[in-house]
Formats: sequence, structure tokens, C-alpha cells
Amino acid sequence: MNEHGKILREAVKVPRCKAEELRRKLIVMGALDRALKPFEENGFVFFPLKKAEGARRLLEELGGELTQALFEMRARKPRSLKEHLAGKLPNSILDKLPSSYDIVGDLILVDLDEDLRNYAREIGEALLRLHPRARMVLTKGETIGDYRIRNIEVIAGSGSTETIYREHGCVYKLDLRKVFFNPRLSGERLRVARQVAAGERVLDMFAGVGPFSILIAKLQPSVRIVAVEINPDAYKYLLENLRLNRVEDRVKPILGDARKVLENSREEYDRVIMDLPYRSLEFLDVGLRVCKNRGILHLYTVSRSLEEASRAVVDRVAKLKHVVEIEFSREVMEVAPRRSIFTLDLRKVE
Ligand SMILES: C[S@@+](CC[C@H](N)C(=O)[O-])C[C@H]1O[C@@H](n2cnc3c(N)ncnc32)[C@H](O)[C@@H]1O
Repeated sequence: MNEHGKILREAVKVPRCKAEELRRKLIVMGALDRALKPFEENGFVFFPLKKAEGARRLLEELGGELTQALFEMRARKPRSLKEHLAGKLPNSILDKLPSSYDIVGDLILVDLDEDLRNYAREIGEALLRLHPRARMVLTKGETIGDYRIRNIEVIAGSGSTETIYREHGCVYKLDLRKVFFNPRLSGERLRVARQVAAGERVLDMFAGVGPFSILIAKLQPSVRIVAVEINPDAYKYLLENLRLNRVEDRVKPILGDARKVLENSREEYDRVIMDLPYRSLEFLDVGLRVCKNRGILHLYTVSRSLEEASRAVVDRVAKLKHVVEIEFSREVMEVAPRRSIFTLDLRKVE
């Protein structure tokens, strides 16, 4: 590097009219040094080279010349939240920045520890610079109440908290202030949906804005699904999402409390999805009653360990005088220190 911060490098010099063609060929060959800035002088363009060998052949074709030149370094775009905030926040704070956050449509959801709260605006604005398509940054807050809605707060950007989110080829309109939604469950939704066979009858007991029901309906058009949701806002988006995804003919939405809705139902289902992790065990009697013999219940529950979750399910099922086989179980995600959501696929045997 010289005193002006420039770097001496092997270079090709070509007339301006040939520059674009040469640039593309150098990229294909992996010969262009992209960390340095090409420049133009007296009608010639100079490209910095990583390796000169293959370039000689090109130069014969394009009438360029192999030489040496001084290049400026390209300013490297910050690639992480930490890089965006380096020099702007104290180092002790940089070390505590969240290592992950969620992007839901054009909204970013981030969890901020207490000591980051004073820097919320800077962090939010840095996230918007890092993700130019995002419009607003929200803190995640706690998920509360029966509707499982987040207590969110806007820390950067502006506008509505309604957005459009795409997942596995489906589209969901939702308002994060009014309904539950978690993009981290997308893998779980796909895992369940892929198990559904043609012609099944499925019950989605706690449907939210419809991500289980709609994905299943898209993947298996012959399936018939009943989707129950108690939150009127989530139900409104469920109706709209059924239309947006053109599956209204396969999913029957019902607004209400799953227990009451299913109280007098004689319908039996091949598969019952029970995605209400904090309270699903309370509804297990309903789920088991409407599930066919040899049918499957996909149960989500919060616990400290898989063993503890399995034990709680087995005990509850025994109290209800049913028998199930746990066909599959795993941890889905951590929700608090030493507390996670677990999924258990239960085959109803009796
Ligand atoms: C954890 S969310 C899951 C939503 C959806 N399965 C998803 O993946 O986004 C649980 C949903 O169940 C709804 N809910 C809570 N209690 C209910 C009940 N008793 N009957 C029907 N829905 C209920 C909540 O409003 C919420 O939308």
C-alpha cells in the first residue's frame, strides 16, 4: 500500500469500448480482484487482477495490455448488525447485540435485552440499513393472553404493523399487533403438512391466520380441513388468507373456542393439529375424542425437557382413559431459559 492508501497490483488495461466485455470475462475466470476499484484514465479502463495467467489469452482477443497499476480499495459494505454499529455504540453493547431476529414480510422482529433498550433506535435503524426491503423494526415483547399476541413496540421505521409474509409458496396477510405469528415454526409446518395423505380429514384446532391449514390444503387438494380460531382478528385474516391462496373450497373456518365448537361434533378426523403450546394439554380430551382410531394428533407443548413433555402427555392421556403411541417427538424452539416448545406426534390406539 502506498502513502495514499492505494495498492499496486497486476492489471489489464483495455480501451473503454472493450471494458465491459473484458470485465465479464474476468469475473467468469475468477481473475478479477473485486476488493479493488477499477478506474478509467485517458480512454482506457484498468482492472485489478487476482491472477494474471488466464488474462493473457483474453488480452490477445480483446486487444488489451497486461500492466501494473495503483488501485483504491472498495469500501466494504457492513454485513452484520455489529459491523453496522461498530464505532457508534460502546463495545460492551456491541458484544450483546442479538445474534438473530425474525423477518416477517417487510417487518423485522427483534428481542432486546434490558441493557440494549437505551440503544433501541440505533439498533432498529441499523437493521433497516442492513435489510433495505424492510419497512419497520419491532421489539418482540412477551406473547400474552389466550390470543398469544405479542406486546410489540416500534423502534424504527413507520407505518402499519400489517404485512404480507410468504412461506413455502403460500402467502399470509397478518398484523403482528393483532394476531399470533411465528416464522420460526415454518419447518414444523412443512414437516406436518408433508405427512398428510390424499383424502384425509384434518382438524386445525388453533389455526391462527392459517399457516398449517393453508399449506396442507395447497399440498393436498383432496384434503378437507376444519380450522378453528378464537381471536376475531386472526379469524378475519384466516378468511382473507384462504381467499389469497385460493383454498376456500378445502378449508372450513370456524370462529370460536375449540372446546365449544367441537362439543357436539360427531365428525372424526384422521389428523388433529393442536398448536397451543401453553395450554394444549387442557384440550387433549377434545382432541382425542374427535380423532379417529389410528389417527394422529400433532401436539405442541411447553416443557423443560423432551422427557418431561412426554411424561406429561402420557399421564394426561392415561387419565383420559385413552392409549397413544408417541411416533415422533422433538424440541421445536426455546421460548425462555430452560423452557422449550416440544412437538409430539401421537398415534391414537384406543
Ligand atoms: C400458538 S398460536 C398458533 C397459530 C397457528 N397454528 C400458527 O402456526 O400460526 C395459537 C392460536 O390459537 C388461538 N386460540 C387460543 N385459544 C383458543 C381456543 N380455545 N380455541 C380456538 N383457538 C384458540 C389463538 O388465538 C392463536 O391464534
